Amino acid sequence: MNKPAQRIIIYGLLAAIAVALYSLYLANRAQETSWQARLTPVDLRCNSLKNPTGLDDPRPVLSWILNSTGRGHEQAAYEILVASSRQNLAANKGDLWDSGRLNSGQSIQVPYAGKPLASSAFYFWKVRIWDTKGASSEWSEPAFWTMGLLEATNWTAKWIGLDGESTTNKFRPLPARWLRKEFALPDNVRRATVYFSGLGWSELYINGQKIGDYVLSPPLSEYHRRDYYETYEVGRLLKSGTNAIGVVLGNGRFYAPRTNAFNSGFPKLLLELDIEFADGTTTTLISDESWKLTTNGPIVANNDYDGEDYDARKEFPGWSSAGFNDSTWQSAQVVSPPGGELSGIRQNPMRITGEIKPVTMKELKPGVYVFDMGQNMVGWCRLKVQGPAGTEVGMRFAETLDDSGELYTNNLRTARATDIYTLKGQGQEVWEPRFTLHGFRYVELTGYPGKPSLDTLTGCVVNDDMPMTGSFECSNPLLNQIYHNIVWGVRGNYRSIPTDCPQRDERQGWLGDRAEESRGETYFFDNDALYSKWLVDITDAQRTNGTFSDVSPAYWHNYRDNVTWPSASIMIPAMLRDQFGDTQAIAEHYDSAKKWIEHMETFVTNGIITKDNYGDWCMPPEDPRIIHSHDTNRITHPALLATPFFYHDLKLMQDYALQLGKTNDAEDFGNAATQIRVAFNTQYLNRETGQYDNGTPTSSVLPLAFDMVPDDMHQKVFDYLVNKLTNDWHSHIGTGLVGAKYLMRVLSDNGRPDLAYTIVTQTNYPSWGYMADHGATTTWELWNGDTADPSMNSGNHVMLIGDVGIWLYENLAGIMPDPEQPGFKHILMQPTPVADLTWVKASHLSPYGWISSQWQKNGNEFQWQIKIPTGTTATIYLPAATAADITESGQPLANAIGVKLLGTNNGKVVADIESGSYNFACKTGQ
Ligand code: BGC
Repeated sequence: MNKPAQRIIIYGLLAAIAVALYSLYLANRAQETSWQARLTPVDLRCNSLKNPTGLDDPRPVLSWILNSTGRGHEQAAYEILVASSRQNLAANKGDLWDSGRLNSGQSIQVPYAGKPLASSAFYFWKVRIWDTKGASSEWSEPAFWTMGLLEATNWTAKWIGLDGESTTNKFRPLPARWLRKEFALPDNVRRATVYFSGLGWSELYINGQKIGDYVLSPPLSEYHRRDYYETYEVGRLLKSGTNAIGVVLGNGRFYAPRTNAFNSGFPKLLLELDIEFADGTTTTLISDESWKLTTNGPIVANNDYDGEDYDARKEFPGWSSAGFNDSTWQSAQVVSPPGGELSGIRQNPMRITGEIKPVTMKELKPGVYVFDMGQNMVGWCRLKVQGPAGTEVGMRFAETLDDSGELYTNNLRTARATDIYTLKGQGQEVWEPRFTLHGFRYVELTGYPGKPSLDTLTGCVVNDDMPMTGSFECSNPLLNQIYHNIVWGVRGNYRSIPTDCPQRDERQGWLGDRAEESRGETYFFDNDALYSKWLVDITDAQRTNGTFSDVSPAYWHNYRDNVTWPSASIMIPAMLRDQFGDTQAIAEHYDSAKKWIEHMETFVTNGIITKDNYGDWCMPPEDPRIIHSHDTNRITHPALLATPFFYHDLKLMQDYALQLGKTNDAEDFGNAATQIRVAFNTQYLNRETGQYDNGTPTSSVLPLAFDMVPDDMHQKVFDYLVNKLTNDWHSHIGTGLVGAKYLMRVLSDNGRPDLAYTIVTQTNYPSWGYMADHGATTTWELWNGDTADPSMNSGNHVMLIGDVGIWLYENLAGIMPDPEQPGFKHILMQPTPVADLTWVKASHLSPYGWISSQWQKNGNEFQWQIKIPTGTTATIYLPAATAADITESGQPLANAIGVKLLGTNNGKVVADIESGSYNFACKTGQ
């Protein structure tokens, strides 16, 4: 080859190499950019809330989710900017906090560590992250939080209202209080913030506009200890010239709905409107005696249990606008403060979270119509009506019908559950109540002018508006219905506290109902903030000697010094840590928890505590008509309930103490627990038969669940339980609410998920399937809810759910947080293909993002698609004898990226995986 030809070839080759290198570089860059674009911090939360306003937490925590596709992406560092204005944040000026680049994988519960938080200040924030290769993400979208009035001295307003006569009428209806005030302003308002506490419930209006979309606000509280206030930015609603502000006050639970409940007094208001002008000057409008008030408005009576009477003829259009003639109104009274600490709201507000159209309407007798909403729901109805002024339309609510198709209301006890609307007679009128709540599926409409249609009523579903965190579906329609019933029951009983029931004259925050159930609820709703707040209610209601009230807030004074119900206060902080990675409650309530433990320790004799009040509440009774069993073979002895629970509490306290670095306390709690365990087994375990005491299922379930059983007796105790359930209970539920909290998991964890499945899918008494088969759309209070005495028989109770919710997600779908790395930082994924189930499809929104698990069984093939979020890892259990029987996305498991085989365990292949999506196929050999 001649030289020029050689040169051409060499140059050609060099050019080709250069082109190749350049395209490689471009491809890399493209990959990098697209990868960067995919790894983005999203869903910014402050104290687990989206853009909360009016916080008064001195140390809020910040969280975000990392959006990305692909496997194994991880955050290696982050930077947070917090600025006092949107502009500063947009210019990347973190004038309140610039964390700088911090090498850390933490993406949830990051404590704010900037300048001290100031009253009523704005905090705009964003975050960016770096991955393990050093590439940074874009800045996240901005988020914010605002602070409330931090110091009590910042409040200059006076509590106002109208104190009236005390009443002996047990129904305690009260007309709403309407309050108003006009004020003049120049035209240079820069910012205006209103802070107000309208107790029991209130709505705020400025210049004729309702502020916000919260309902039944502020949250319920232990009023003499804590009163919640709302914070809103309202600058854009103010104008130059005369402005008006108005508040309507309802009873809520401040003015007790019954004489047997703790009454905090007549409704009252504290309000402060801070206005800042462009020139930097400020002025404050406060609630005081210069406000005008009337009780002679359209809300003639309101009561949480009984309903609302509204006379539209008494409306006063324009009452919250300037220029309204209030000469007939009286001056507001300055009244005594409720006595509690003013606190900013720390949870999601209540809202109308859905609407339901009735499915049928029947005219029962002339003028009496019964609507079926098709779902036992909580909220109220929006009424559409047209007719002559003065026509009274009644809506009465019930959960069920009697045999003749009329509303069945005996189980509501004294709750009248009736809203009455009196027409003003001006064309189409649309009305819904403000200050009541009903639990119902059926509505009786009376007094309607003309013939109503399905369009006449709309069901407004009302509850704490928190994000939904899960979905579950499987091949068994009955289980899907049970799941539906569980979720609707939980949803309807969230009303700024978790209540027992929504319909009768009770609606209390019973501690025992939620102690462990609350854990399962986290799979349906992001209830971190709600339960954090409820723990405050529980602590607020604690007596100085350490006693907790069995209902909190303590609207009923049930200070009974039992173990099982108040244990909720010890158990819920662990639930918040495990499910949300939120350890704040452990620190916040440690002292009150310790005080209670020390108080209860005075009742421990020789390692046994018998303090119990409710037994294994709502054990299925022997006679379908009765509420509580009288059969001594079914009744679990108080010591067998109180002692294991107290042991469990001590172990949790030991754990909390260790976490908080209180090693002496930890040792004390640990020693006390050991003594109890030894004494309990000595006294109650029959080593011959493996039974505890009289052998009720609950008496075995608790020691197994709490790891109290001596190792050498474990199998025997479990076998005893299985025999008891299969022989005496014919594979039906054999526990009340205490045992049911753990039954499904104890069976599954000890190798009998099939029995758990059989129990959960039974359709005859007693079972969840029996409820579903008898038309339940929520879970009943009693296993025999269709036949039992109505005096305590709600159709919408959360407590009997037991651990079914947890079991569906953690066992059937196999999505479980690892307590060693809580909040789903590390996930344990062990699905349970059981009995005739052929597929399960579940997803859960963890603090790190969505986790999903979907499996299907096809002959001897088990297919499993899973996804775990960026920033997490999982240990997975694949149902196959060896790794050679498994493929991932069609490739042999050994070649799968992001999968590290750990070995086999109990007939399953165990592996660790990095974040991302996977598609496994296993030959199960069955
Ligand atoms: C409530 C239950 C509660 C129980 C305790 C009932 O009236 O509805 O949910 O736990 O009382 O006594």
